[in-house]
Parts: sequence; C-alpha cells; structure tokens
Amino acid sequence: MNHSAKFPAAIMPDADWWQALWPDPEGVLRALGIGFGMSVLDLCCGDGHFTHKIAHIVGGVGRTTALDIDPEVLVQAKDRAARAGLPPTSIRWLECDASNLIDKLPSQPEYILLSNTFHGVPDKVKMARNVFEVLKPEGQFAIINWHHRSRDDTIVLGEPRGPETKLRLTPEQVMDVVLPVGFKLHGVVELPPYHYGIVFEKPKTG
Ligand SMILES: C[S@@+](CC[C@H](N)C(=O)[O-])C[C@H]1O[C@@H](n2cnc3c(N)ncnc32)[C@H](O)[C@@H]1O
Repeated sequence: MNHSAKFPAAIMPDADWWQALWPDPEGVLRALGIGFGMSVLDLCCGDGHFTHKIAHIVGGVGRTTALDIDPEVLVQAKDRAARAGLPPTSIRWLECDASNLIDKLPSQPEYILLSNTFHGVPDKVKMARNVFEVLKPEGQFAIINWHHRSRDDTIVLGEPRGPETKLRLTPEQVMDVVLPVGFKLHGVVELPPYHYGIVFEKPKTG
C-alpha cells in the first residue's frame, strides 16, 4: 500500500481520549441531519467511531459506505461494527485515497461526512470539488472541525489534544473554500466542547 497520499496531521487519535471527547457519536450524527434510509459516505472514517452509528441510524433501507486510506484503521472499524452487532454487509468498506473519489464509489451518496480531517487536507478546494462531483444533487456535505482555538485550551483527559493551533479553521474559513465550488450553506451546528459541524448542500441543478 502506498501511503504517500495520506494527509498530514490526520492520524487516527487514540481510542481512549477520542471516546472521552465523543461519548455520543449518534447524537452528533443526528444533529447533523443524518437520518433513516439515507445513503451516507463516511469519508476518512478512521477506526469507525462514527461509522457504525451511521449504519445504525440509516438502517437496512439506507446505505453506509466507509472509506479510508489506512488498512489498519479499516480493520479496527470493521471489528467495531461487528462488535456493535451489525451484519457484515451493512457497511461497504473502501480502502482508497479520498483525494481521488471519481470512479471509486459504486453509487452516488446523498450525504458525505468528513470528520476531523479537513484541517489536514493540503488541497482543500480540490477535496470540496471532488465531493461536489460525487454527491447526489440536493445531497449534503458535512464537515466536523475543531474550533479555531489554541491547542493548549482543548484539554481532553488532562492533556492538550487535536491538531496544531495553526491548522484549525473557523466556519467562515471553511465556507470561503467550499461555497465557491457551488455548494449552498445549510447550517452550522455547535458540537461541544471543542467542535462545530458545518453542513453544505449541493443544489438540484449543480
Ligand atoms: C483524525 S482521523 C478521523 C477519523 C474519523 N473521521 C473520526 O472523526 O473519528 C483522520 C483519518 O483520515 C485518514 N486519511 C488520511 N489521509 C487520507 C487520504 N488521503 N484518503 C483517505 N483517508 C485518509 C486517516 O487514515 C485517518 O483514519
């Protein structure tokens, strides 16, 4: 596996403090508008902290696809989904580079989640264009980001956590990248203690 395309500063965090920071992944996903019957792509899914809850929410009628470049985290994600009691076929797993999605997806998702990764993507405009291209018309693109706060102030289990301060983006900085690609803003959701979610929509004619 060639890891040269792996985004810098986007490594899967240790499960202990990640669980402490995100004790209710299902609540986060529902706050971002993921619901029963949707077809959702968890882009850069990591160890599946959110993925198995997506599959739970969308149910058998919906479709969950999870993509990551790192085979080791995909093994952990599959194991987590199995431990959650999901049938093996309930999630489609893709080991590939998120910078190049065209022709990688078997079908057009109606919702794409990019959680805790956008700060580390070197070419953010290209990523937004890529997502726009593969998303269904009227589909949604949600980005979960650390707030633009000093890393020293984002303490989890007694230690500063998350990306370097200089990599953190405000919602306005994300909009400046994503809106010119053709998306409309759907909404911004606070995800305490340290995150926000920003949801964009692809217009019908986009
Ligand atoms: C900080 S983790 C976030 C995981 C998950 N989204 C979450 O919030 O729990 C970032 C993930 O992005 C993945 N990643 C980094 N570069 C990638 C690339 N070029 N294509 C696909 N996945 C990538 C890493 O392997 C890692 O699992």
